[in-house]
Amino acid sequence: MGKPDKAAKGNSALAFDFGDNWDHYSRTVLDDGRLGAAVDSLRSLIGTDRLAGARFCDVGSGSGLFTIAAALLGTGRALGFDINPTGVEVARRNLSRFAPDMADRVEFRQGSALDAGFVDGLGRFDVVYAWGSLHHTGSMWPAIANAARLVDDGGTFVLALYNRHWTSPLWTVVKILYNLSPALLRRVWDRLLGSLMLVAVWAVTGSSPLRKERGMDFWVDVTDWLGGYPYEYAGVDEVRGRLDAMGFDLLEVRPPRVPTGCNEFVLRRRAA
Ligand SMILES: C[S@@+](CC[C@H](N)C(=O)[O-])C[C@H]1O[C@@H](n2cnc3c(N)ncnc32)[C@H](O)[C@@H]1O
Repeated sequence: MGKPDKAAKGNSALAFDFGDNWDHYSRTVLDDGRLGAAVDSLRSLIGTDRLAGARFCDVGSGSGLFTIAAALLGTGRALGFDINPTGVEVARRNLSRFAPDMADRVEFRQGSALDAGFVDGLGRFDVVYAWGSLHHTGSMWPAIANAARLVDDGGTFVLALYNRHWTSPLWTVVKILYNLSPALLRRVWDRLLGSLMLVAVWAVTGSSPLRKERGMDFWVDVTDWLGGYPYEYAGVDEVRGRLDAMGFDLLEVRPPRVPTGCNEFVLRRRAA
C-alpha cells in the first residue's frame, strides 16, 4: 500500500495513518461474519425503514464496511469517502470482494470532511453516517457542520464521537507519544497497553472485549485507539446543544461501554 501524502493524513504531522490499520484489518480479520455484525449494528441503530431506498453517505468510511453493509440493507446510492487514500483503496477492494454486484450503486471517493467545497459537491442524503471519524479530523466542530449540510430535510444524521471524560486529556498525551514512537516501539505499546486495556474493559463492563460489536476486532481497535490522533471529544449535552443550533432534533443517544468510548447519536434534520 502506498503511503498517504501529508495533506491526506490530516493537518498535523503527528496524524495517525488509519489506512494501514484498515488494510491490516481487511486482510487478516474481515470475513462474512464481521460483515454480518456490521449489518446488524446498522439495522439496530438506524433501522431498515430509514435505510430502504435511502441515499446514504458514510463520512470517514475507513474500510468501507458500513457503506457496503448499508447497501446490503437496501439503500439506493451509497457513497463512502475518507481522507486516507489507502483506506479508499481498501474499501474499493472490500466492495469487489463482498458485494461485486452492487458496484453500480456503491462508490468510494477520497476527500476530506474539512473541505467544504468537496463536501458541498456531493449532494444531499437521506442518511449520513459519521461513525468515529469527525473527532479525528483535527477540527471536529467545523467537520460536523460540513457533514451536517449533507443531510437533507427530514434526513437522519448518525454521529459517533468520543465521550468527554476526566482522562481524555491524558489520552491525548498517550496518543502523541505513540505517534512519536518508531514502528517497533508502537507494537510494544499495542501489546502492553492493549493487555492492560483488555483487563480494564473486562473489569468495567463484565463482558469480554474480544467479542467485538460492529464487526470490529479488539487488537485492531487498540492500534486505532492508541494511534488515533488528532483526537477530540464531547459530552452529550454539548453535542445536543450544538446540533440543535444546526437544525437537528436528537432522537436517541447510546452511551459507550467504557467512559472514554463513543457516544452514538441519532439525529433528524428539521424541515426548513
Ligand atoms: C476510527 S476510523 C472510523 C472508520 C469508520 N467510520 C468505521 O466506523 O469503521 C476514522 C476514519 O476517519 C478518517 N478521517 C480522518 N480525518 C478525516 C477527514 N478530514 N475527512 C474524512 N475522513 C477522515 C480516517 O482516515 C479513518 O478512516
